Amino acid sequence: MLSGEAPPDSQFARDLMAALGSRPHTISPKYFYDAEGSRLFDRICELPEYYPTRTELAILQRNVGEMAALAGRGAEIVEFGAGSLRKVRLLLQAFEAPARYVPIDISGEHLRDCAAMLRSEFQGLDVQPLVADYTQAVDLPARGSKGRRIGFFPGSTLGNFTPEEALGFLRRAAGVLRGGALLIGADLVKDPAVLHAAYNDAQGVTAAFNLNLLVRANRELGTNFVPSQFAHYAYYNVPQQRIEMHLVSRTDQTITLGGERFAMPDGESLHTENSCKFTVAGLRGLATFAGFRPGPVWTDPERLFSVHWLHAP
Ligand code: AVI
Repeated sequence: MLSGEAPPDSQFARDLMAALGSRPHTISPKYFYDAEGSRLFDRICELPEYYPTRTELAILQRNVGEMAALAGRGAEIVEFGAGSLRKVRLLLQAFEAPARYVPIDISGEHLRDCAAMLRSEFQGLDVQPLVADYTQAVDLPARGSKGRRIGFFPGSTLGNFTPEEALGFLRRAAGVLRGGALLIGADLVKDPAVLHAAYNDAQGVTAAFNLNLLVRANRELGTNFVPSQFAHYAYYNVPQQRIEMHLVSRTDQTITLGGERFAMPDGESLHTENSCKFTVAGLRGLATFAGFRPGPVWTDPERLFSVHWLHAP
């Protein structure tokens, strides 16, 4: 501590302090998603280079009839993260008399908006939003019908978890979905050039998304990051099968946080995200290890993305 400033006490402050105070500097990608970060992510999903969103949507559109048959009548859909209404809408339209929709999200405001929209669109659907961190254990409302409970986790968000977090999430999901299933999207390993383009788009939206973490820290934690003194760097780590996103210091600089000073020499990186890519067999193996029984898998003709039905026995 160099000054008498009160140390910030939010989890973000603690995690950023831990990241800056150790090497390599690594912070969870969950801090990307303030209002501006969420807006930038929505723009990423529309980019020509970012194939996952449109590819997963097309897979869902093409195969939703089969998914509906697996879910059966009166299913309850539990969505982990209330991300894209477009995706869950497809399920709600195709499933036979879905009984309930339970979106779980950390952002109450976003949840309320989604819930209101779906209630007005699907008259008679019981929408029960749950404000919670789905990466931890969550208490779901008691089942309201005899239908199966179907978890929905699209977007390959599983790939942003550490291996331990991914296994923990899948284990807990297998527990709460017992007797039902998990419908999960997983981005596939592929030509590194395709992956590189997806995370280094020509318009610089992904760079802005990455750098917004620093803007958020300045606003919320009073840090002194100068975003122009950091470079967005994203590359595909082939042996680890993951895109890594970094913010690389472009000069020798000192970051202050909570009265502490942290050196960020020229060329040093703050590792902000891993986006793991999967093989179909790898995802099925992980799911089996977590307690699921893998069912059908759907992919697109180019095998860019996969959607898995995982039975929760
Ligand atoms: C949310 N998540 C699955 C995205 C991904 O592709 O890993 C986040 C993202 N990061 C950069 N572009 C998109």
